[in-house]
Amino acid sequence: MTQNTQTSPVASSLHAAPQLSSQPGPGEKERVVLAYSGGLDTSVCIKWLQEEYGLDVIAVVGDLGQEHDGLEAVKAKALATGAIGCAVVDMRQSFADEYLACALAANAMYENKYPLVSALSRPLIAKHLVAVAHQFGAKYVAHGCTGKGNDQVRFESSVLMLDPALQILSPVRDWDLGCRADEIAWAAAHNVPVKATAEAPYSIDDNLWGRAIECGVLEDPWCEPPADIYTMTVDPTEAPDAPTYVEIDFEAGVPCALNGETMPFLDIIYALNDIAGGNGFGRIDMVENRLVGVKSRECYEAPAALTLIQAHKALEDLCLERSVLHYKLTIEQAWAETVYNGLWFSPLKEAFDAFIAHTQQCVTGTVKLKLYKGSCTVVGRKSVYSLYDFGLATYDADDAFDHAAAKGFIDIHSLSCKVWAENRLANDARMPAFADVDATNAAYQAVVEEAEDIIEHAGAAVA
Ligand code: ARG
Repeated sequence: MTQNTQTSPVASSLHAAPQLSSQPGPGEKERVVLAYSGGLDTSVCIKWLQEEYGLDVIAVVGDLGQEHDGLEAVKAKALATGAIGCAVVDMRQSFADEYLACALAANAMYENKYPLVSALSRPLIAKHLVAVAHQFGAKYVAHGCTGKGNDQVRFESSVLMLDPALQILSPVRDWDLGCRADEIAWAAAHNVPVKATAEAPYSIDDNLWGRAIECGVLEDPWCEPPADIYTMTVDPTEAPDAPTYVEIDFEAGVPCALNGETMPFLDIIYALNDIAGGNGFGRIDMVENRLVGVKSRECYEAPAALTLIQAHKALEDLCLERSVLHYKLTIEQAWAETVYNGLWFSPLKEAFDAFIAHTQQCVTGTVKLKLYKGSCTVVGRKSVYSLYDFGLATYDADDAFDHAAAKGFIDIHSLSCKVWAENRLANDARMPAFADVDATNAAYQAVVEEAEDIIEHAGAAVA
């Protein structure tokens, strides 16, 4: 499989809109718009929606930069399985500019580790499901998620927020097909094309921002991930013996050039997936808390995402005033959790974005990184908006920092705690608030007395 590296959207018959009326005609069935991937689950969904719900199915295939064997084949499969139309939508440009750029500005990492690969794509796909539903008069939208993942929440919450009147169908969650073998048997009996290949051992979801791998042997959190789960990153032990340096330019928080060459953010992502992935950087192995209450073991590879977030943070370190930087950290965590939990279109997320966007105005400059055998290290940063002041920072002769002012600063800074400490001592450290630590105080007192003894004896010995 290959990543489609063609970055400029091309008008082709592949992307032609389905030739359908804007509403079901008289006597025609109601319509449902299905998020379609070409895999077994969503293929069975097409037939299931037709047979169990009596609906006409319009498939929507999103191109988010995932690996594929050709979207023409995916479209042909949807139609061969019985969909009355199939819209293949190149979402890569808007995914990069409207979704990934916001995620990067937020340095978004769920649980400080996962750059939200799948969580970022679901709201965009949902937006297109709703648009196609409106275009062709569908009352329903459907997805092929199971009942215990996060993705069902993201699809459905997004659709509900975009058009609360649409009804959502979730066949995989609802059907009683039991295990995979039963599903394959049902598919074969209903003329759903089933690939003759052995069942893929993992559940994979991928896009421009990375690749999520779960299930199979990975369900044992003690089991080291097999080498073959990774496709975007080389094994760090097999990465080149010499480091690769890259320079990334940012303009108001958005990457705008790579190694001095101006290029669109989308192209920078593609290039960094190759460069960082080629140096074995970007792998994540974690146990993650799903919204539905389940801990799951997840492996990811996100070479460009992790490189860009690291670079972006380094530039912010230089350009953001201290209290803004510190406050932004709490917003970043809340942003990641909100998006992870499927609330991309919520007013809270919108408010976070407003704060973050404001902070990005001065995040312009260049970051230099060194990629080497699975590591990525920031080795330089510069900006016209840099708040780094050499005179204040240096320990050399050029030192411009007012050392004398530090004394008064510390007196005032610690004044209230000093008053508190004095009061505590005056009360023999036996105020009710300290009742619990009396034992500790007693032990501490004993240590102090012992130390005083030693000092006294030492003093006597010297005299
Ligand atoms: N655990 C990740 C998330 O919730 C990845 C989900 C990937 N989905 C999949 N079908 N493999 O965002």
